[in-house]
Amino acid sequence: PSTPNAEGKKVLLAAPRGYCAGVDRAVDAVEKALELYGAPVYVRKEIVHNKFVVETLSKRGAIFVTETDEVPEGARVVFSAHGVSPAVHAEAAVRQLDTIDATCPLVTKVHKEAVRFANSDYDILLIGHDGHEEVEGTQGEAPDHIQVVNGPEDVDAVEVRDPDRVIWLSQTTLSVDETMETVNLLRKKFPNLQDPPSDDICYATQNRQGAVKELSPNADVVIVVGSANSSNSVRLVEVALEAGAGAAYRVDKAEQVDLAWLEGASNVGLTSGASVPEILVREVLELLAENGFTDVETFKTATEDVFFTLPKNLRADLKAAGYEVD
Ligand code: F3S
Repeated sequence: PSTPNAEGKKVLLAAPRGYCAGVDRAVDAVEKALELYGAPVYVRKEIVHNKFVVETLSKRGAIFVTETDEVPEGARVVFSAHGVSPAVHAEAAVRQLDTIDATCPLVTKVHKEAVRFANSDYDILLIGHDGHEEVEGTQGEAPDHIQVVNGPEDVDAVEVRDPDRVIWLSQTTLSVDETMETVNLLRKKFPNLQDPPSDDICYATQNRQGAVKELSPNADVVIVVGSANSSNSVRLVEVALEAGAGAAYRVDKAEQVDLAWLEGASNVGLTSGASVPEILVREVLELLAENGFTDVETFKTATEDVFFTLPKNLRADLKAAGYEVD
């Protein structure tokens, strides 16, 4: 650990933070598609939930739409990292769209679990946020078998057909602790509730929460860089507060940091959500340094080496055009 500067002001920097492998792949997919096929490339929904990323790609020729029917027939469309339901794939096929599916492989894994257990006629309790794109996509795999449980407050109302044939699955970006609270309540109600075959909350979500948990007890204030619609970023604010941070705030970028938050603070925690480019964290670090927080101590709680290759059809086209692809 570094020694505090003369004023005793220090930044506690979380690691890991920022881009996960799924976001990296999705953003790369749009960039490579623009390079290879030229603009415009349509993207259904925000490719990842980050304003800066969406604005940057828009400037380069990506056109963001909310639904596939806004994409001209026969055009090329990228599906976002959050995944889509089979109905969206079907609509795209009817409109003869060229699709590049940038769904994170860890979201696809949850889709497959949903299909498997629905085929075995289980009631699936999908813990997640109603209306979130990922939840809509997963639920669309088996709408007759899946009900969404937002959190502990929903448990009372949950009803199933056969309490011996129930499994819970979850959105990939939830708070680990809150999800376990929900599961415990569900299990009280349905003692034979089955667990998912493997963790649905992804490695990146867990690691970013782990790092912020570690530094929060020492932080007077924690700043989380991430957009308001980014589930995992919003969770990081909650986790920081639960872990003992004096205060915690989410900002899209450095300009949104209110200097009043820093008044009287000695230790400022800093992290970023899985869809946040590192440059946005650098800018907050610069702002903090300008305000006396020149010392930076990194809280590293995990090492990540996950990497996902680009969607298959895009990789094939890139290779055919002579690009080197991993
Ligand atoms: Fe995938 Fe997790 Fe990132 S599900 S997109 S690796 S936050």
